[in-house]
Amino acid sequence: MKVFCLLFLLLSASACTSSELKSFTPGEVWRDNKGVHINAHGGGILYQNDVYYWYGEHKTEGQGGNTANVGVHCYSSKDLYNWKDEGIVLSVMPENSGHDIEKGCILERPKVIYNAKMKKYVMWFHLEPKGIGYRGAKSGVAVAEKPVGPFTFVKSLRPNAGHFPMNYPEEMKNAPDRTEGLKFGGGSVPKHPDLLNIVKRDFEGGQMARDMTLFVDDDGKAYHICASEENSTLHISLLTDDYLSHSGVYGRFFVGRFMEAPAMFKKDGKYYLIMSGCTGWTPNAGRSAVAPSVFGPWTELGNPFVGEDSELSFHSQSTYVLPVQGKKNGFIYMGDRWNPSNAIDGRYIWLPIRFEDDRIIINWMDEWSIE
Ligand code: GAL
Repeated sequence: MKVFCLLFLLLSASACTSSELKSFTPGEVWRDNKGVHINAHGGGILYQNDVYYWYGEHKTEGQGGNTANVGVHCYSSKDLYNWKDEGIVLSVMPENSGHDIEKGCILERPKVIYNAKMKKYVMWFHLEPKGIGYRGAKSGVAVAEKPVGPFTFVKSLRPNAGHFPMNYPEEMKNAPDRTEGLKFGGGSVPKHPDLLNIVKRDFEGGQMARDMTLFVDDDGKAYHICASEENSTLHISLLTDDYLSHSGVYGRFFVGRFMEAPAMFKKDGKYYLIMSGCTGWTPNAGRSAVAPSVFGPWTELGNPFVGEDSELSFHSQSTYVLPVQGKKNGFIYMGDRWNPSNAIDGRYIWLPIRFEDDRIIINWMDEWSIE
């Protein structure tokens, strides 16, 4: 018995040391505590009670794996290198149930924030009802009592119905919507968005919301940041105090710049955004911007990626910027290296962010650690 115990201890100790990760290896297969490639794409992180929770799209094999066949996956970690599988925290509903999040819908870029007032975990995601491609351009909301769920679907919506953006010129509020008869395919629009007056078109039903993120400021106010107006323009909206709805207070920024994949963070009282251009799953040159307040004015800072393959953001697209706890000015760029033909094999590109004055700089590293 003694020999058996000793053998067991030795075996488990060696298993522990050999599986313990101490660095990031961008672009490699990242395994969870069960040895399975982490499945949390377009993700974001919540830090709560000394634990990091990583939420992302659970993708499946093949091209069809880009639609939501399973739901939102969650992992937890204390050190950001070693991740424990916490399972599916928001499940899609059965096929043909007619539910907003039925199997086969498009559910992308889930982000979770904690509402201290309500003591609830609130998830927002980009939702495209099943079978209509990306024409729905909606947001979905789900809530949970615990960070590891289960999350309950609350509603889907188009943001800010019946409200004009705070920075929308009076003359445009009164001008006609000029989108009739035009076809929109997700890419560039036939005219500058201001000439089309897409905001006016969507005034009653709510504004379009595709690629998105959430940001909680130091004062507890939360914001929903999304690609709107046929992807042409970024909308930044203040959420209500319970984080469950749009407040109707919002602004439009980077008009006609087609910013996607927004990730917002705050450093030394200034607000930063890392974004991408609009080329679907194909990578493009990243973008960045700085502002003295969430609602601007935003100044573009250019492509934060430097060196070889910077024009393709090191074959990645932004999804989140993670403030490292206890590390002053320690921020991690989190990006996805998509694999649209075999969605489940998408990889994670996490790299440290450096600052040169206001500029954000991201260099490639094969392997690195926070220390
Ligand atoms: C990307 C977007 C992804 C996904 C993809 C679909 O531009 O960032 O989240 O929507 O397009 O083609």
